[in-house]
Parts: sequence; C-alpha cells; structure tokens
Amino acid sequence: MNDLRAKALDHFNNHTIDHLNELKDLVRIPSISFPGFDPAPVRKSAEAVYNLLRNVGMQDVRIVSGNSGHPAVFGQWNDAPGKPTVLLYAHHDVQPIGNKDFWISPPFEPTERNGRLYGRGTSDDKAGVVMHAAAVGSYLETAGRLPVNVKLLIEGEEEVGSTNLNDILEQHRKLLSADVVVIADSENFDSGVPTLTASLRGIVTVNIEVRSLQSSVHSGTWGGPIPDPVLALSRMLASLVDDQGMPAIPGLMDKVRILTPSEKSELNNLPFDEATYRKQSKLIDQVNIIGNQGTVYEKMWYQPSIAVNAFEASSRHQAANIVNGSAWARVGIRIVPDMDPAETLDLLQRHLLTHASWGVEVKIEPETPSHWWRTETQGPAFTAALKALEKGYERKPAVVGAGGSIPFVRTITAALGNAPALLFGVGDPYTSAHSENESLLISDWEKGCRSLIHLFAELT
Ligand code: BES
Ligand code: MN
Repeated sequence: MNDLRAKALDHFNNHTIDHLNELKDLVRIPSISFPGFDPAPVRKSAEAVYNLLRNVGMQDVRIVSGNSGHPAVFGQWNDAPGKPTVLLYAHHDVQPIGNKDFWISPPFEPTERNGRLYGRGTSDDKAGVVMHAAAVGSYLETAGRLPVNVKLLIEGEEEVGSTNLNDILEQHRKLLSADVVVIADSENFDSGVPTLTASLRGIVTVNIEVRSLQSSVHSGTWGGPIPDPVLALSRMLASLVDDQGMPAIPGLMDKVRILTPSEKSELNNLPFDEATYRKQSKLIDQVNIIGNQGTVYEKMWYQPSIAVNAFEASSRHQAANIVNGSAWARVGIRIVPDMDPAETLDLLQRHLLTHASWGVEVKIEPETPSHWWRTETQGPAFTAALKALEKGYERKPAVVGAGGSIPFVRTITAALGNAPALLFGVGDPYTSAHSENESLLISDWEKGCRSLIHLFAELT
C-alpha cells in the first residue's frame, strides 16, 4: 500500500468523530427542496457545504445555480497532472419529514442510538456529502495532495428531480469534465455488505386534480345528482392497476426489457429470506407480496411500479358530511430499461383522462422526469471500485440494481461521452430513506469513507 493512501486512512481513523460531527451539523439544517417549503435552509445548507469543502482544502469552491432553483456547490483540486479526473457527486437537499409525530427523535436533531445516526438526511444524502469531503480531506490534510484530480458537485435539488441540472451542466460544462464519475447516493444490499449499484430506475410523476364543484357542499342536501370528485379520482387511480396490483396502463409494459436467463439466474442467486424482506420493507404480516413471477429484486429493479404518494380531499380532522369540491393526488411511475420517460408520461396522462367519469374537470401537472440508467461493470474503473470497496469493508462487494432514481447519473455520463459511473452509497435496508426515522449505520458510513480513500489510489 502506498504511503499517501496509508497516511490518509490513518488520518481518517483518527478523525472519524470530527467527520461524524460535520455530518451532524449538516443534518441540523432542514434543507427540504420541495415546493411549498422555505428555500432559505437549502441555501444555508449549500453555504455549510461550501465551508466544509473549503475547510478540507478543496480549491475553487463555489456555489452554482442554474437559471433558477436551489444552489449546488462545486469544488475542484487539479494538481495531479497526467492522472485521471474523478467527478464526485452527492446531494445536500432532503425530502420532507412526513409525520412529525412518528419520529422518535426530532428529524433535524441528529441522534445516535445503537450504532445508528437518526435524522432526515443522515443517510440520504448528507452521509454521501461528508463521505466525499472526508476522503478528500484525509489526503489533503496529510500529504497535501491527492493521487487523482478531483471535482465535486453537491446538488441542491436532487430530491425534486434535479430540475435545473441541465442548466448547471450547460453553464459549467468545462468545469465538470472528468474521466470517471463517483456517485455516493445509493444503498448497500445489506448492512455491512459493500455494494456497487449497476442500475437505477427512472421516475415519471404527475400531480392530478379532479374537480366537480366550486366548493364542497352538504352531502345530504345536494348528494345524488352531483358527482363526487373523490370517487372520480379514486376510480382513475384504481384503474392504474389490475386485480393483482400490477400496472394496467395499456402499452406501459411494451418496452420493458426482458431479462436474459443469466440475468434472471443472477437475481435468483441473491440471498432472499421472506421474513427479513418483510421486516426491511415494513410489510405487515397478512399482506401479500404481489407480482406474478420473478424475484423481489426483479420487481424492484427491472419492472415498473406505481405509487400514489399523496391523496388529498378534506382531512380526517375536517371529515364533515360533505361532497368535496375537488380531490388531489400525486402519482409516480418508476420506469425501467427500455421505457421512454416522455412516452410513459403520455400513456399515464391519457389513461387517467380516459378514466375520468361524469365530465369531471381534470388538471394534470407533470414534474421533471428522471431517466433509468444501467451499466456494464467491466473495465478498469469498476475493477478499481470493487477493489476499493473490498478493502474499505474487508468483505467481498455485491453488484446489484436499485429501485430508486438519481437524475444526475444518466445526464452526466451521457454528457461525458459514456464515462463510467461508480455508484456506492452508505444507506442500508434499515435506513428508512424518505420515511420517518431515517438513519445511517455509522459503521457502514465509516467503511464507505475508507473505501473512497482507497478508490482514489486504485484509480491511478
Ligand atoms: N438516494 C436516492 C436514490 C436511491 C435510493 C438510489 C436507493 C439507490 C438506492 C435519491 O436521493 C432519491 O431518492 N431520488 C429520488 C429521485 C427523484 C426525485 C427523481 C427518488 O428516487 O425518488
Ligand atoms: Mn432520496
């Protein structure tokens, strides 16, 4: 092992607590990027990331935005002539907190329990942000140099579909040029199992409002001749799936790539235990696992799925004897190879409209879609990543797919002429990303940091 790397690892091991504190400081900033939330904390979070990157010795650190939208943070260190350039990516924005009463400790007060750090963004994805900073800092604070050139982009609106990412890429194309991309925003296959992610699903999301009345009315006085918009929207939503719970939008499955027998057998060879799966996915006892054939992995990574994220029409608290004036829902379809985002959106919109009964008024507002991504894992960059993960975790890595989406991956690899993208994050199946009580397994995060320190050396 070369000197540079050994010193950096040593330094990280002696300063783990400091880096964990950096993570806690970021978690305290409620950087929710969703519409309707105060954008000021996202800016504050960008400033905190800016300071963090400057403190670890990154050069040319700057806050960048597209023409609008939440700020991202860029930095670079380019003093390794002749060596490859690595572009590191993570995001500093987070999802809303969900139901605050369900949090055991408050979402923005990072709290350690049983080796895990609880709080919104602890895992998704402030752990990734600090992992990059810690790995870079471990070299710069010891040797004063890195074995490779490093660029870093910490996005501020990944959780809302990276709406202004194309602007940022166009405005800073030169700054972002690189040979390899490293994305720290995925999850380990199991706690303690180093994992390289080789595919992501995409997503197509719509907001839909159905209205039949100017306002709600007395359900006794007026009910009967007037259509209930909640029932109209429910019928539209229910029509999205068949009796088995599978997507029922005509044409939706046409372009879904069929897995080869060897791909299927690879998925079959992954460990699966139903009780563990139920626990991790939070599925309650009596409820069926749906979908006809195939492993849960095939269903989560290589098949589309539909979720109604929210449904609104009055509320439990205000549940009066009324016919509601309108009903609203947000619906997302996860898309897989070789589905086309625009075509999926079109199919979804048309299907919803066809199923709108009784002449109700329907308004559909699409969000920015995210494309799916899938890569081969051959080539020197992947070999380096697998070696680095094995060293960082002292365990053989798994190569898997993932059901989540990261718009940046497809966009940047395409912009860089199909540069290899190495995805490894520090979430695990107990992370509860996007849910209440999100947490990070601290030991995996430490191993992830060590792996990244190894990776810089392995990529030379
Ligand atoms: N970190 C996730 C994506 C992810 C989760 C990748 C698990 C691999 C394994 C990311 O922050 C995320 O949640 N993305 C959004 C993207 C969307 C708004 C385009 C998602 O998947 O919902
Ligand atoms: Mn997320």
